[in-house]
Amino acid sequence: PWFHLQVLAQVDSTNRYLMQESVRGVAHGTCAVAQIQTAGRGRRGRTWLSQLGGSLTFSLLWRFQCGAAGLSGLSLVIGLALLRALHEIGLNDVQLKWPNDLVVMYQGQWHKLGGILIELQGDMEGPSAAVIGIGLNLEIEQAMRQQIEQPVLGLNQLFGQTLNANELLGRCLAALALHLNQFTEHGFSYFQEAWMAHHAFHQQPVNLLMANGQVVPGQVVGVAEEGSLLVETANGRQRFNAGEISVRSA
Ligand code: BTN
Repeated sequence: PWFHLQVLAQVDSTNRYLMQESVRGVAHGTCAVAQIQTAGRGRRGRTWLSQLGGSLTFSLLWRFQCGAAGLSGLSLVIGLALLRALHEIGLNDVQLKWPNDLVVMYQGQWHKLGGILIELQGDMEGPSAAVIGIGLNLEIEQAMRQQIEQPVLGLNQLFGQTLNANELLGRCLAALALHLNQFTEHGFSYFQEAWMAHHAFHQQPVNLLMANGQVVPGQVVGVAEEGSLLVETANGRQRFNAGEISVRSA
């Protein structure tokens, strides 16, 4: 596959940058990678903190014939693509946390290694474009760890050696292109089994944190063919979309 690689010494957010470039008609397959992000964006309006050399931060622009309605499960597929890229370089313990975090069990606790933020352009029907933003922790310094409310870990710490960020980027892009092409052809259902096989909380008891602050206990039973989470709760089997809940291990 071909990518149009743009290496930016400093940018506020590679996602914000590519959203703007996309409107200007930048090519399918454009990847913006930042050495420094000054205002990295996370999911749910959070900020993504990173230090120079401390993380691999990039965004990929992917254009689709279908509208946003046809892209359900996309963010889960991106997580799976990255997981497979990491497994390829020997990081076999990396798992997924629904909807799309990369996590690892380390010193008895789940630690976040990276996250994904997808922003869409276009309407539900017509052609659409996705800006797929990815942040992978390489090295987390103590001062930064204290600013993040959940346990986080760098890939270098996990690997026990300093990874070559350029090589890692190359492997991620190759895996992303492959998975994006398969997703375009078959949709999420093609990945459903594989995704569940790598889910950190599969069949596990969890607490669901609802948007209104309520906490609902349950047990994860799987992901549906459009990517929603299936949980057995006191009210029976329920499905949740990524916007509705966040999941904590119980
Ligand atoms: C999350 O876990 O909340 C998602 C984090 C996504 C961070 C990446 S870093 C590159 C890209 N540009 C951004 O501003 N955010 C994403």
